[in-house]
Amino acid sequence: MKTEILPESDKDTLHRGAEIIQKGGILGIPTETVYGLGADGLNPEAVRKIFEAKGRPQDNPLILHVWGKEQVSDFCHDIPESANRLMDEFWPGPLTLVLPAKELVPKETTAGLDTVAIRCPANEITRAIIRAAGVPIAAPSANTSGKPSPTTAKHVLHDMDGKIEAIIDGGPCSVGVESTIIDLTGDKPRLLRPGGITPEQLQNILGEIEIDPAVLGEISQDAVVRAPGMKYTHYTPQGDVIIVTGSAENAAAYILSRMGPGSRVLCFHEELDLYPEGTAVSYGSEAEPETLARGLFAALRDLDSEDISTIYARCPSGGGVLYAVSNRLKKAAGFHIVDGEKE
Ligand code: TXA
Ligand code: MG
Repeated sequence: MKTEILPESDKDTLHRGAEIIQKGGILGIPTETVYGLGADGLNPEAVRKIFEAKGRPQDNPLILHVWGKEQVSDFCHDIPESANRLMDEFWPGPLTLVLPAKELVPKETTAGLDTVAIRCPANEITRAIIRAAGVPIAAPSANTSGKPSPTTAKHVLHDMDGKIEAIIDGGPCSVGVESTIIDLTGDKPRLLRPGGITPEQLQNILGEIEIDPAVLGEISQDAVVRAPGMKYTHYTPQGDVIIVTGSAENAAAYILSRMGPGSRVLCFHEELDLYPEGTAVSYGSEAEPETLARGLFAALRDLDSEDISTIYARCPSGGGVLYAVSNRLKKAAGFHIVDGEKE
């Protein structure tokens, strides 16, 4: 199969994109978070093709993307008032709600759960395609399973060339990490994945929220988890990722004393000068948290090479979007964290 690239601004793109979805094909779609691998979320055959293209484990459910709040009651029942408040405040945008699923959502999409994850992305062409196709689009991130999520059409092409019908090129993603997922089906709202909508923003609307253990640390393969995807390896380049904590200078001393020819450093822009030319890559500025979110996955992809055996990474701390950035980086590192203050 030849994978077409459809520029967002071409006048035929909307029509062609909707047609691919209606015919049961797979389409790379831009969203504000990361690119998705989209198919008709009500068509089991089409959804199965997504799992195949990604190499994704069957027990990991997909997010259903809708063009507006109006559609949610088509696919979910017992929608709590809190869900309406969140949709009013944050949709379209980087927030996914887990709600009880109606029968019509196929088990291929929900991986057999009785809940469904649902979100309305901000990207206009993607919403217009959902509307024109007349079906919700099921879409995971458009990377090969286990690899960093794609934040450009080129990343999608790298992983999916020849496996999917087309990719809509909507430019680089403005958020850069996947959506926040909040589960509203339990007694208390529970954060399953941090993202562009911050814990603080959620608390403003919901009051107290629980943080799922999978957000905070590594969990075992057999654990029963609320977000099935959380137990799998994520965002991993070929080399080992090791997070080094501590001040910029002490972490640099720690790293420099251990670096070999196959080592690289993934750091903040402000720290580049501490490392020899050609050994360090910046993923954004510590002073501008959004740049770190936007740059993390692209930098991990740049460092994904068989010549690179160890990546020493600097991880931000703090709330807001940095909570999501540090979650993704810790997952990429398999929670391998060392203290740069201890020589
Ligand atoms: O920003 C995003 O959310 C992107 C864009 C494309 O929308 N999508 C994305 O999808 O990140 P994916 O498949 O890479 O991650 C979805 C996560 C997985 O960890 C999955 O296990 C979880 O959502 N999930 C899906 N349905 C669920 C459900 N019913 N209950 C709990 N977790 C669910
Ligand atoms: Mg993913």
